[in-house]
Amino acid sequence: MVRPNMKPIVQFFLKLLLIVLSAPQFIAGDDNQRFVYSGFADTSLALDSIASVTPSGLLELTNGTAMSMGHAFYPPPLRLRDSPNGTVQSFSTSFVFGIISIYDLSSHGLTMLVAPSKDFSKATPVQYLGLVNGSNNGNTTNHIFAVELDTWQNTEFGDINNNHIGIDINGLSSVQSHPDGFFHDHNGMFKDLTLSSQEVMQVWVDYDREKIQIDVTMAPLDMATKPKRPTVSTRYNLSTVLKDVAYIGFSSSTGKIKTRHYVLGWSFAMNGPAPVINVTMLPKLPRHHPKGNRSWVLEIVLPVATAAVLLSLGTIAFLFVQRHLRYAQLRDSWEMEFGPHRFSYKDLYHATGGFEDKNLLGVGGFGRVYKGVLPRSRLKIAVKRVSHDSKQGMKEFIAEIVSIGRLQNRNLVPLLGYCRRKGELLLVYEYMPNGSLDKYLHGKGDNTVLSWAQRFHIVKGIASGLLYLHEEWEKVVVHRDIKASNVLLDDKMNGRLGDFGLARLYDHGIDPHTTHVVGTIGYLAPELAHSGNATPPTDVFAFGMFILEVTCGQRPVNYQNAQGNQLMLVDWVIDNVQKGSFDDTVDARLKGRYDVDEAYLALKIGLLCSHPFINARPSMRQVMQYLDGEIEPPELRSESLALMQNDGFEPYTISYPSSTTSIGTVSHVSGGR
Ligand SMILES: Nc1ncnc2c1ncn2[C@@H]1O[C@H](COP(=O)(O)OP(=O)(O)OP(=O)(O)O)[C@@H](O)[C@H]1O
Ligand SMILES: *[C@@H]1O[C@H](CO)[C@@H](O)[C@H](O)[C@H]1NC(C)=O
Ligand SMILES: *[C@@H]1O[C@H](CO)[C@@H](O)[C@H](O)[C@H]1NC(C)=O
Ligand SMILES: *[C@@H]1O[C@H](CO)[C@@H](O)[C@H](O)[C@H]1NC(C)=O
Ligand SMILES: *[C@@H]1O[C@H](CO)[C@@H](O)[C@H](O)[C@H]1NC(C)=O
Ligand SMILES: *[C@@H]1O[C@H](CO)[C@@H](O)[C@H](O)[C@H]1NC(C)=O
Ligand SMILES: *[C@@H]1O[C@H](CO)[C@@H](O)[C@H](O)[C@H]1NC(C)=O
Repeated sequence: MVRPNMKPIVQFFLKLLLIVLSAPQFIAGDDNQRFVYSGFADTSLALDSIASVTPSGLLELTNGTAMSMGHAFYPPPLRLRDSPNGTVQSFSTSFVFGIISIYDLSSHGLTMLVAPSKDFSKATPVQYLGLVNGSNNGNTTNHIFAVELDTWQNTEFGDINNNHIGIDINGLSSVQSHPDGFFHDHNGMFKDLTLSSQEVMQVWVDYDREKIQIDVTMAPLDMATKPKRPTVSTRYNLSTVLKDVAYIGFSSSTGKIKTRHYVLGWSFAMNGPAPVINVTMLPKLPRHHPKGNRSWVLEIVLPVATAAVLLSLGTIAFLFVQRHLRYAQLRDSWEMEFGPHRFSYKDLYHATGGFEDKNLLGVGGFGRVYKGVLPRSRLKIAVKRVSHDSKQGMKEFIAEIVSIGRLQNRNLVPLLGYCRRKGELLLVYEYMPNGSLDKYLHGKGDNTVLSWAQRFHIVKGIASGLLYLHEEWEKVVVHRDIKASNVLLDDKMNGRLGDFGLARLYDHGIDPHTTHVVGTIGYLAPELAHSGNATPPTDVFAFGMFILEVTCGQRPVNYQNAQGNQLMLVDWVIDNVQKGSFDDTVDARLKGRYDVDEAYLALKIGLLCSHPFINARPSMRQVMQYLDGEIEPPELRSESLALMQNDGFEPYTISYPSSTTSIGTVSHVSGGR
């Protein structure tokens, strides 16, 4: 648009002209049902929370604040129907957007939406994209139509991947969605686009009233025309969704990753194609200078020499990084598909101060765990170094880790990613500031004692996390290593389950001469000794031990017996319950300050779950209902208790040393009852 030989004064007037032109241009006779914004400087959009228009005219929906959301609306309402009893008329809208984030990860995304109100203060950020909240998601009373551009995979909404475009009605479970990209006009080939690539892209949304068809098309901005074939389309009668009077706008939200979502231009028309957005007039995304679009100032003022210096510096840096990567990490082509979850070893090295001892959080059965801070995002992380020697099975394992990384539940420790080196796998978790629960249960000193309310809250949290793994995710995930040291506490003292799926590491590269049992002594269900198969009921068993441990403040296997024999906590609890000495059973450090009903409930559930007979154990869903008081758990019958004591536990009390660390291999487990 602007050539270098233009005089500065001409520039100035041109800029002024752009500002004037970028105000919406209304086309007369169309009842204001048509507009074009090429940049948003000096416009009056209805904005809320952190949304703003930058001085250069970008609509900034989110500004890099984590866990936030922003909205922008075209202020006057649209009249979607031409008569009160008519149907929703055809309409078209188009917008140009860009997403800027740190790393190659971004969260969460943005939507273009049509809704009966501009008030979205009750919506939630993160995975809800500022569009709905957990209670109204999908409700037909929302009357919302939206197109989502989502950079995160939320399985609860059936998201297909972490880079998709979807057509949403009243909620975030898309009616139809597709990976981002477009179909080439000439050969029909699909070309991928990556939302978080910091590239500017354009989207067209067209609704046809006669065919009740919604077409959504996307393309990179530098492509001159709208592709003929839409990226995603569906037949949906919007007359059954939208109200007569509706507002059109955008919503956007961030999660843990500090992302900024921008809209550069926008147009809309009722009963006709959306006006063409003049792309030469659009403001520029920050830190992004597409080739051929630089201002003349940059081109003239910056001498060629500077460019050359930068270029050579860049090349050196690139070569350096490449070398570093080549020597430090392994990367196979198959891993590319898991790209976003992979961290560079260098980043993790710097994040943990070179895996310094002072950052060591602890040592577990799988390896050392270090605290760190990611250099760019300042996100606190815990890095677990797991050594392995098998190349074989690694692909499956990492695929599993990555799929498990998609699990999202507030009672699971988020797995942010991984890094693979020779003979070593690094797993990156979110840092849990309050450490692991066992330190509170078995720590010394009174300042670490958790109140009963805190304990009960943690137990409920872990039960709901485990229920999610067993029943609420797309696959059944067996945790295999439920225990107090795998329960971590976040900043609000919520219990979160860590280490899920890690026990599977031992499944890959199996040594045929040993029976593999994974878990921790004291938490192992008796049937594991015979079959070695971890199942949801074996997790329930371990959960039973866990709940007894939290209630009694004692490890599942302890040494308190006078003869010096190891004693199972369950046996001790059963003894006490049979004697009716309930008060002695609950952790003495609570000094009697606990809710008797809740504590009794906890003991009862603990005993039911740790029943030696698989069929006698409740499912996690039942456990959750007991804990929530929705259902009364069955009474403990004394015959049943006696049976429990005589059955199932013996092999464990005699054969093994008490241990708090996971065991990978247990050979010749003596079974039989
Ligand atoms: N995400 C995290 N945030 C904060 N601390 C953590 C985190 N993950 C682990 N830790 C700390 O590191 C220690 C070691 O963890 P790890 O899970 O490896 O060991 P473990 O649970 O004791 O044993 P195992 O490996 O047998 O499960 C934990 O006790 C905990 O204090
Ligand atoms: C984002 O906007 C909010 C509200 O306007 C402001 O408080 C905050 O500092 C901004 N954050 C950034 C990173 O600019
Ligand atoms: C619209 O429909 C309602 C109920 O079906 C009817 O009472 C009303 O007369 C109709 N209005 C017009 C303008 O057709
Ligand atoms: C969810 O949003 C709806 C509609 O905006 C609102 O009425 C409701 O109170 C919200 N629920 C919560 C839990 O915030
Ligand atoms: C949908 O929302 C309405 C009003 O907010 C509420 O009465 C109704 O129970 C909700 N329906 C569902 C299925 O949640
Ligand atoms: C769409 O729904 C409206 C209202 O339910 C109905 O009147 C109309 O006939 C439907 N349109 C088509 C094309 O089915
Ligand atoms: C876009 O705007 C520029 C600058 O105002 C103008 O020169 C150009 O003709 C416009 N292009 C179109 C297609 O309107």
